[in-house]
Amino acid sequence: MLTFVATSLLAYNNGMARKPPLGWQTWCSAGPCGTDHCFDYQIKETAQAMVDSGMQKLGYEWIVLDDCWHPSRASNGTLVPHADFFPEGMAPVIDFVHGLGLKFGLYTSVGDKTCHGGWSPGSYGHYDEDAKLFASWGVDWVKMDYCGGHDSPEGHQNFSRAMNATGRPMVLELCRGPYETEPGWGYAPQVAQVWRATEDHHDEFESTLQQVAAMSTDPAASGPSGWAYGDMMMTGGQGCEKYDPHTPQHCPGQTDAEYRTETSLYAVLSSPMMIGTDIRLLTPIMKQLLLNEEMLAINQDAAAPPGQKVGMAGADAWVRALSDGRVAIALPNLGTEDTPMTVLLDAAGITGGAGAALRDVWNKADLGVHAANYTTTVATHDTLLLIATPQKAMAAVVEAA
Ligand code: GLA
Repeated sequence: MLTFVATSLLAYNNGMARKPPLGWQTWCSAGPCGTDHCFDYQIKETAQAMVDSGMQKLGYEWIVLDDCWHPSRASNGTLVPHADFFPEGMAPVIDFVHGLGLKFGLYTSVGDKTCHGGWSPGSYGHYDEDAKLFASWGVDWVKMDYCGGHDSPEGHQNFSRAMNATGRPMVLELCRGPYETEPGWGYAPQVAQVWRATEDHHDEFESTLQQVAAMSTDPAASGPSGWAYGDMMMTGGQGCEKYDPHTPQHCPGQTDAEYRTETSLYAVLSSPMMIGTDIRLLTPIMKQLLLNEEMLAINQDAAAPPGQKVGMAGADAWVRALSDGRVAIALPNLGTEDTPMTVLLDAAGITGGAGAALRDVWNKADLGVHAANYTTTVATHDTLLLIATPQKAMAAVVEAA
């Protein structure tokens, strides 16, 4: 049972996002950024695909519209969704999404225009009325961008207050702001449930590493109801140069190995996973990565602190002690050649000499018990994602028996 807090408090403890949110968010999903996937029928098809593909059963539950629903303001100040995209208004789409047991989010900006060429009004000067309108439509998540000429931390705080004052628990997503470079993410955890760690993620490996580096600056400051996140996952491709609203397509900009690295590190860092590509068409690599239950269990273990970067035999690994005593280890090969790489168990916090049973998450294979280290070849830009189960020392086993 969720308890909603007093309206004077900010949004951080409103019961939402106890685990890193999993879902789909449209921006660059069907074509080049800005020619987006945002007609009511597409949103409904996407929500249906989340159910039919089995994603919902695995915990994916968010359908979030980005800067694509193109509202204008009516003369009384109310936001009106674009009539070509949403001819019957927003409510039927939101009802459809809710009817499937999913949750729905919308985008606005802290200033008076949105980010993509300022093509839509932002919420500046209308925080209370926009928050009330979103709540009245049954919105569950608001992405608050940082454009439009009046961007300020006060804007984030005031919109957070306005959301809480509606009495409807909603997730507030902050998309950029000065908190990004402040220790512990500055004011973000007091204001929002999710906040983006850095700039936009593009479908290139360098950009993926930039997201990971930003999230790795202060992973310990994330936790239930307050998650730093890497921008939308580009797994599968960010859309094709030619935009066809009726035909889902992918034009991957990274290799399958690079998408494995993206997904492995987002999982260990407990980033919210908002897929930015078209899930109506799940490619083999999207299925392999996004539907992997062991990967999702690592990401969703909200009781465990997010993973940290750990030096390991000449390379960096990302290590997360899971709440059941197991340890998730992601070891990426950032070099340009396939190369043997070594996991050092003591560097992963597994000490005591009895070693650990290792499980390869992507290959779904048990690798046996290893006393101190494990070496295998990792392909260029790929990541070895392991779950290590520490073995009890013999003395302890005998004692227990
Ligand atoms: C900014 C954000 C993106 C997206 C666009 C929309 O660039 O960082 O995530 O929301 O605006 O215009």
